[in-house]
Amino acid sequence: MMIEGSFPTTRLRRTRQHAWLRALVAETLLAPADLIWPIFVHDHEASMPVGSMPGVERLSIDGVVKAASEAVSLGIPAIALFPVVESSHKSDDAAHALDPENLVCRTVRAVRRECGDAVGIICDVALDPYTSHGHDGLLEAGRILNDETVVVLARQALLLAEAGCHVVAPSDMMDGRVGAIRGALDAAGRQDVCILAYAAKYASAFYGPFRDALGSAAALGSGDKKTYQMDVANSDEAIREVGLDLAEGADMVMVKPAGTALDIIHRVKREYRVPTFAYQVSGEYAMIQAAAANGWIDGGRAALESLLVIRRAGADAVLTYFAPAIARFLALTKSSY
Ligand code: PBG
Repeated sequence: MMIEGSFPTTRLRRTRQHAWLRALVAETLLAPADLIWPIFVHDHEASMPVGSMPGVERLSIDGVVKAASEAVSLGIPAIALFPVVESSHKSDDAAHALDPENLVCRTVRAVRRECGDAVGIICDVALDPYTSHGHDGLLEAGRILNDETVVVLARQALLLAEAGCHVVAPSDMMDGRVGAIRGALDAAGRQDVCILAYAAKYASAFYGPFRDALGSAAALGSGDKKTYQMDVANSDEAIREVGLDLAEGADMVMVKPAGTALDIIHRVKREYRVPTFAYQVSGEYAMIQAAAANGWIDGGRAALESLLVIRRAGADAVLTYFAPAIARFLALTKSSY
């Protein structure tokens, strides 16, 4: 069909014609090296699926060691450990968080023994796995105590560092904890241990499946974390949070959740130009898996797309439960997406 009239000189469709050309002009890449694999560990031999996170299991210590070796062979640089703590070890003062024989410390030692420095070990610093009330901090008369919690967090971080983790990641959102943790690590000669601060962490509905996995949902009951985690209405406040954590000594900062805070990831990366990570949290994972299980979306493609846009927003690395599946897929096809 002949068409009369003038036509565009610039045609953006020209560079979309072939896969090879699209690959050349792609502005963002997703590679296994951009992924961090969050892993749940429990004190049982058999692994146990997390009902609300199809494809994710709570692993034994041996299982975590195997997963860590798999991360190495898949090119995933780091794992993030989350312990499922027996209810008999939960208390109001989270004392078990400071026991060097607790599950996460034993796991860190086992992974370190097997993998050395071949895979990064990131440990969460927060009290919620250990508190009978499910909060990240100490609770008194219905309030979460800030400074008293920070003292415990600094000791917890040091304990995790002594067990052998490379990175401590405070996820509690208490004010001043990064400075206190840096101080405690340095005073003990642990200058080399990095701090990945959950700097802009929102009080989000998307953490539900994670709390199921840990068994902290039941403990928290109808409670919420709005007096310490950020209000999702706020953006400037995220910039202030990140600025404070950097000033206190954070090496890397994190935005969480990722998919509902792409604007925040973008602002943080733009404004500070520091290593900026994002956490594609349990609820984000669960939504994609649930829709895929129903045949409503192509789960693999949706997972890739969700991660690529988090990278496009500005994240240097992404914590995602899809990490092993994506890395396996990328290894099968090509090395990046
Ligand atoms: C606990 C912690 C949470 C997550 C990571 N660390 C849950 C919470 O703050 O309630 C959420 C991760 C996820 O949903 O995947 N401090």
